[in-house]
Amino acid sequence: MTLAVVILAAGKGTRMKSSMPKVLHPLAHKPLVQHVIDTARSLDPSQIVVVYGHGGDQVREVVIDADLSWAEQAEQLGTGHAVQQAMPHIKEADRVLVLYGDVPLTSAETLRELLDQAGKGMGLLTINLDDPSGYGRIVRDDKGAVERIVEQKDANADELAIQEVNTGIMVFPGEKLSGWLNGLSNNNAQGEYYLTDLLAMAVSDGVSIAVTQPEHQFEADGVNNKLQLAELERAYQRLQADRLMTDGVLLRDPNRFDLRGSLTHGTDCEIDINVIIEGNVTLGNNVKIGANVVLRNVSIGDNTVVVENCIFDNATVGADCTIGPFSRLRPGADLIGGAHIGNFVEIKKSVVGLGSKVNHLTYIGDSQIGAGVNIGAGTITCNYDGANKHTTVIGDNAFIGSNSALVAPVTIGKGATIGAGSVIRKDTPDDKLTLSGGKQVTIENWERPKKQPK
Ligand code: UD1
Ligand code: CA
Repeated sequence: MTLAVVILAAGKGTRMKSSMPKVLHPLAHKPLVQHVIDTARSLDPSQIVVVYGHGGDQVREVVIDADLSWAEQAEQLGTGHAVQQAMPHIKEADRVLVLYGDVPLTSAETLRELLDQAGKGMGLLTINLDDPSGYGRIVRDDKGAVERIVEQKDANADELAIQEVNTGIMVFPGEKLSGWLNGLSNNNAQGEYYLTDLLAMAVSDGVSIAVTQPEHQFEADGVNNKLQLAELERAYQRLQADRLMTDGVLLRDPNRFDLRGSLTHGTDCEIDINVIIEGNVTLGNNVKIGANVVLRNVSIGDNTVVVENCIFDNATVGADCTIGPFSRLRPGADLIGGAHIGNFVEIKKSVVGLGSKVNHLTYIGDSQIGAGVNIGAGTITCNYDGANKHTTVIGDNAFIGSNSALVAPVTIGKGATIGAGSVIRKDTPDDKLTLSGGKQVTIENWERPKKQPK
């Protein structure tokens, strides 16, 4: 039996109060529907059909995935009608798993369990809630077998008291599905074609219905507004934090940690509070990350210490570096190892050689800095002439005096020393002191201007 997954994502999401379709709102930097697609993908289905409607063009633009099938539901006439739109893509031999594009955190394990339990019959994911309001209720017979689902708006007082609810996630045998869908009517309180009415049809056709429940409630939670989105974000972050801590990462406070991508790490890494990790980040062994640091697509080598308030974006940091506070590594920053990068230093598209130091108030852009270099406070590589970018090359063991401007293209020789406050426009030789600027003078008999009396 092959598996087809149908993801319902046509709803408008009015309560999000946003111009963006609901399923595109991000959870941990990934659109809600992409979470669902990724989980579906992990079940190795023969195909995934996304039913789209509102903002469909935007959804298709954001979710770029050649292996998806798309089915338009121009008018939202109910969940049953939505699944019907996907039927042209479904084969009779398929088992059809229905997921919701706005229920992002159902785990693959839960879905595998649901599929296992269902076998060739139907499977239904339910959950028991203290407050079941809003959900379809699971009606069972005297023997406890599932009989049907009644929607909140169609339920009587007894039915409303039922606490077992429909999560909406179901699996159907493909050979029965289209017949059942064709038999749906919209003769109900909402005038919709309810997917949930298929349960009673399964019962009368003698098809078994296996019920599974998820381990965590958040696996069944949908997003209807921004409050729920924020709650699920926290649940997801906590899950990731717990996994990292179990794997040996020390998080100073798992409630103040955000991973919006993937984190690979060695042993004995420590992460202080309010660290945001985005994209693909790799930490070696014994890496320490201070409070309020943002790491976006970065790799950091063994024993490197990043102190508070740094931002690294698409940068590579070798082993044994000390960086921060308040350092900014921009795309293409490549610290070979043992570097010291200090406060208010910005490094872009530059290599910093082994053991080199850039400790204070400096801009390094489009540069090749050798090993053992010391860049004085306030040094600027002037890489931009107003039209083009140019390269600065600094040889091994060079010493750049404070407040120097290195006007690219320019090469500073190995072991060269640049006097403080120099503006260097031409290449400088190895091992020599080069300085620029006027001779220092003292003006005799000069007086500070005084305030005129009024
Ligand atoms: C549905 C279930 C209810 C269940 C609840 C769980 C039905 C009739 N009811 O109710 O039993 O407890 O989910 O959250 O199935 N959608 C479409 N096209 C449509 C209608 C909906 O794509 O025409 C999509 C929505 O975008 C959403 C999902 O289907 O992702 C559920 O729709 P929603 O309107 O939230 O269903 P509920 O009324 O909450
Ligand atoms: Ca809903």
